[in-house]
Amino acid sequence: MKQLILLLVITTIFQHTIFANEPDWGVTGHRTIGEIAEKHLSKKAQKQIKDLLQGQGLAFVSTFGDEIKSDKKYSKYYTWHFVNFPFDTKYENSKKDKNGDIVMGIEYCINILKDPNASQADKVFYLKFLVHLVGDLHQPLHVGRSEDKGGNDIKVLWHYKKSNLHRVWDSEMIEFYNMSYTELSSNRKKLSNAQVESIAQGSVLDWTYESQALAKKIYKSAKQDEKLSYRYSYDHLDLVRSQLQKSGIRLAKILNEVFG
Ligand code: ADE
Ligand code: ZN
Ligand code: ZN
Repeated sequence: MKQLILLLVITTIFQHTIFANEPDWGVTGHRTIGEIAEKHLSKKAQKQIKDLLQGQGLAFVSTFGDEIKSDKKYSKYYTWHFVNFPFDTKYENSKKDKNGDIVMGIEYCINILKDPNASQADKVFYLKFLVHLVGDLHQPLHVGRSEDKGGNDIKVLWHYKKSNLHRVWDSEMIEFYNMSYTELSSNRKKLSNAQVESIAQGSVLDWTYESQALAKKIYKSAKQDEKLSYRYSYDHLDLVRSQLQKSGIRLAKILNEVFG
């Protein structure tokens, strides 16, 4: 009995450490996306967003979706950060999570922002969440296989340290690169207006399939217990940076439409 109580006490104290959720892209990735989106906002959208967020920028609020994971009150949003469906099926025909997924989550946020009857508090909440989720959608392993939880169960060594394939793509590569989010944003690839427009094309579902196609390749890039190091970043960091940039451009496209 004593042991049971001790175990309970220990689990309660260390609950956060034991069950801590990985922040998805990691703070730097999410902030980079927010910062890039900021550069593509229309004046009209910029003003309305500034009013709603009381001066906080998109980079600042981009990590909100992960921060609320530590509050049980928001556990119903857990499944909104990803969608897993078999690679050979269409999303429309796949079995849906009853709690929702990232595609439904993004649509829900957009609908609240467009709803003239939604409260100011809800608009702020779902705007912050939208910034986060459009980011998550562009981490290819957030459209992964459910069998391995989007690569979370594929254990690998990252520069001799225990990690997993999902985490390598969420944050390890970006952190190892050791650039701030403002540096990552200002060093993004120079694109013509036509290139930006082409990236902004398509629907949330199109972008979901794009991530899934990338995830398919990423699963082939490493196997269980593989030792990953400099060579892995050399091969894949360009894709990470391009996903951050695409995500920022598409987030701005959605926001420009919502606040247009
Ligand atoms: N948990 C289950 N599937 C996941 C995914 N694709 N990404 C992140 N967390 C998950
Ligand atoms: Zn997330
Ligand atoms: Zn993640």
